[in-house]
Parts: sequence; structure tokens; C-alpha cells
Amino acid sequence: MSGPNTQYDPVEVAALDPAAIDRAVEDALAQIAAATTLDQLKAARTAHQGEKSPLALANREIGALPPSAKAEAGKRVGQARGRVGHALRERQEELEAERDARILVEETVDLTVRVPRRPLGARHPVSLVSERVEDIFVAMGWEIAEGPEIEAEWLNFDALNIAADHPARQEQDTFFVDPPGSGLVLRTHTSPVQVRTMLERRPPIYVLCPGKVFRTDDLDATHTPVFHQFEGLVVDEGITMAHLKGTLDAFVQRLFGAGVETRLRPNYFPFTEPSAEIDCRCWVCGGSGTLGGVRCRTCGGTGWIELGGSGMVNQRVLRAAGVDPGRYTGFAFGLGIERSLMLRHNVADMHDIVEGDVRFSRQFGMEI
Ligand code: DAH
Repeated sequence: MSGPNTQYDPVEVAALDPAAIDRAVEDALAQIAAATTLDQLKAARTAHQGEKSPLALANREIGALPPSAKAEAGKRVGQARGRVGHALRERQEELEAERDARILVEETVDLTVRVPRRPLGARHPVSLVSERVEDIFVAMGWEIAEGPEIEAEWLNFDALNIAADHPARQEQDTFFVDPPGSGLVLRTHTSPVQVRTMLERRPPIYVLCPGKVFRTDDLDATHTPVFHQFEGLVVDEGITMAHLKGTLDAFVQRLFGAGVETRLRPNYFPFTEPSAEIDCRCWVCGGSGTLGGVRCRTCGGTGWIELGGSGMVNQRVLRAAGVDPGRYTGFAFGLGIERSLMLRHNVADMHDIVEGDVRFSRQFGMEI
């Protein structure tokens, strides 16, 4: 016989009433079945499986039962909790599967859809050639020097021995800057940077001066009012024309390929004495003037291509720039970038270079 069950409290164990347990299970199953989202199912889990759920409460009360009642109550509560747990797991799986299926649909990536792309730009070939030329001279130990595009008339002309009434001053049809008599022009060549450099630093001077220049030409297939030149200037003791020739040969070989050479043809420039036109042996026909029996288009059959002007810096220019011609001599040269580009790549029309159409620029990789 068991003794009196002093701890048995009928109020506390009301939750163990079989009908109450069945109701708790039914409530739980109904709420679980009704859950259409994982959040709702989570709420159902808390309500029916959580610490304060009726079944958890009932479970806790088993301990208070007399031993004879424990087994049966334990079995009933255990089964009830088992059913709820099972229902929760099943619904969880269903809802997760639904969510995964929905994500697969919602986040589908259609790789065939055309998206608007920002078209890639391209460096302008004039920039590419300029940089290439600069690199060649910097590799020879030269420095880069720059000057303004709006230049003092004195530096653009007078200091370069181009007198006020000199025909070159009209030949190089100049943009004069307002007001008349301002003494300023849009530089017609990069040669004034020679004078600026000599005024700024003492020899030895080895500089390359690239930049934009301006002349009042109309834009047509071979002319443009704005174009680019690079000017070379060397001032040192004992500089001769042989240094000029050697430098130009080294330069054209690096730009146009091994075996290419230059020739100097007598000419006249006010700022150099003696002066020479620089011709470059045609890199297409190798100087023969013909290609497979046909006249070479690149050099027009002459075997040589005109690149620019050069010479020994005129003593008057050295003096104007404060350099002692008794001690120093120098050479200078000036070449056009657009012209080199048209020759190198058979560009027939200057418009293509000036207009800035990216489809033109894109054809020039880094190679020049
Ligand atoms: N400045 C000349 C021009 O614009 C080019 C030139 C010729 C530059 C001879 C030089 C030179 O330095 O020596 O056409």
C-alpha cells in the first residue's frame, strides 16, 4: 500500500487531464497546419513546444504524480509531444522546400538577357605616339620640358631669329591673341620651348618638348589648325651634327623598326645653322620605292619619307637665350606627331585623327 500522497495537488495536475492533452495536441496540429510561413511556424513551435506550452507544463507535472500514475501519464504526454514534434518537423520541411523553390524562381538569372553596357573608350593614337616618343627619349636619358600654348610672340619668333618682317612669320600663318599688340600668339611650333629651357637651366641640356601647336589652316585631308609636335634640344660642349644624326637614327629605329635610317637634306630654318630636313628611309619598301613592282604608296616611290626639320642651334638663338656660343653648341629638331601617325598607319584623312571617333581610336592598340 502506498502512503498518502501529500504532494498530490489536483489543481496543479489539471493539465494532465487526457482531454486537455488531446485538446492541446489538436490546437497544436491546427496551428502548425495553418502556418504558411516559417515565421508563423516558429510562433507555433514556441506556443506548443516551448517551456510554457500546455504539453511542457503537463510533462513537468508528471513528476508530481504518484508512481502508479506516472507511467501512463508519461506515455500519454510523451505521445502527445511526439505527435506535435513530428508535425512541426514535417511542416518545417514543407515550408523550407516551398521557400527554396520560390527563391529559385525569384532569383533566376537569365544569362541571355542583353544588358546595356557602357562602351569602352580607347586612348587616342596621338596620345599613344606622343608617349611612345617620350619613352624613347627618356630611355636615352633626356628630360621632358613643357611650355604654354599661348606663347609670347618674342619667344615664338624673335628669340628664334624669326624677324618681324621675316617671311616665315607670314608663312606660319599665326593666330594672334587679342587685343592686337598683346604680344601673345598661339604657339605655331614647339621651338619656343627650346628658348624657355635654355633660359631656365644651364647646359648640359637634353630635353624633349612635346605639345600642341596652332596654325590658321583649314581642316582638310592633310591639314589641321591644331596639331602636335615634339621638339628636341641638346646643348652641351662639343655637340656636332654627327650627334644629331646618331640621335635621329637611334630614334627612328626604335619607333619604326631596326634597319631604318635617316638622311639629312640641306634646308633653311632661321633658328638653326646649318639646317636640314630629316628624311627617313621608307620602312615599307625599304627605300627601293617599289613594292612587288608597284610604286610604294607610303613614300610615293621616292624611298624616303620627310619627317621634319633640324639643325645646329643658331648662335643668335643661343645668345638670345643667354647661352655662351663660344663654349656650347647644340642641335635641335622638330617633328609632327599627326604626320608620323598618318605615315606609320596609312591614315589617308586627317579628319579621322581630329574627329575623335572612338571607332578610329580603337584600331590602335598600344603598338604604334
Ligand atoms: N619649328 C619648325 C616647324 O614648326 C620645325 C623645326 C625645324 C624645329 C628645324 C627645329 C628645327 O628644332 O631645328 O616647322
